[in-house]
Amino acid sequence: MIKLAIIGYGQMGKLLEKLAPEHNFEVVSIIDPHLENNISETSLSKADVCIEFTTPDAVFENIRQISNLGKNLVVGTTGWLDKLEAVQKLVQQNKIGMVYGSNFSLGMNLFFQIVNSTTKLMNKIENYDVFGLELHHKKKKDSPSGTAKILADIVLKNTDNKTSAQFEKLDRKIEKNEFHFGSVRAGNIPGTHLIGFDSTADTIELKHTARNRKGLALGALKAAEWIAKRKGLYNFTEYFSEIIGVEHEA
Ligand SMILES: NC(=O)c1ccc[n+]([C@@H]2O[C@H](COP(=O)([O-])OP(=O)(O)OC[C@H]3O[C@@H](n4cnc5c(N)ncnc54)[C@H](OP(=O)(O)O)[C@@H]3O)[C@@H](O)[C@H]2O)c1
Repeated sequence: MIKLAIIGYGQMGKLLEKLAPEHNFEVVSIIDPHLENNISETSLSKADVCIEFTTPDAVFENIRQISNLGKNLVVGTTGWLDKLEAVQKLVQQNKIGMVYGSNFSLGMNLFFQIVNSTTKLMNKIENYDVFGLELHHKKKKDSPSGTAKILADIVLKNTDNKTSAQFEKLDRKIEKNEFHFGSVRAGNIPGTHLIGFDSTADTIELKHTARNRKGLALGALKAAEWIAKRKGLYNFTEYFSEIIGVEHEA
């Protein structure tokens, strides 16, 4: 069993606690302000690896403390990439291993690969115009989703006649070089992302629908197992490319 410390006992932390035992992890510590404890040599003494799902305000300080204690970690919290250089230094100085990423769903990472190879193929054929659509429940606070931005980057990288992504509502005709990505918010819709290719004859659609958060938590556990005995800083997509045996594309 891998000994796991969970940092942040919110929606993701609670799900990790539930799933950990059936995936070869023993939860040895849970850190959260609601539990009135914090990161220390004692609270992490038994942990082989930590998984961090907290808040953008807390994450950097947590990474600093965990790496200073020489513990390997997986960081799922988003909104700190402006500090990536400082994190890289901490990882190197303390000789630890860390995986980070904004979407740990294995299915979504597979979808990124599918969209990557399909857009390369579609780029060879002139007749099709590419578009994107994402739908989420009405509680989601932001749009477009972070995942939509990643998908847009993949499409733009591979499509010669599209040079910019347009996420806004348009009060004009779309320019030929613009890739339009729409957002819809309603009801309880689980995270849904679609990339379509439209021609005069037909439409081809690639669609990923998340059923719940389980895929995200399982991805974090898989990454924790992988990083437990490694050193260095890795993006989740690097980890994913390695496990499925394809070359990582930056
Ligand atoms: N990478 C992915 O695949 C993925 C998947 C899901 C979510 N996320 C991201 O992960 C983060 C957490 O998501 P969530 O849904 O679990 O959020 P959540 O339900 O709000 O849980 C966050 C928990 O962390 C606690 N916390 C705050 N500061 C802390 C600290 N210094 N040390 C330990 N715990 C602390 C919070 O306490 P308070 O209530 O007191 O603030 C709260 O209990 C978000 O940034 C989200 O966008 C990423």
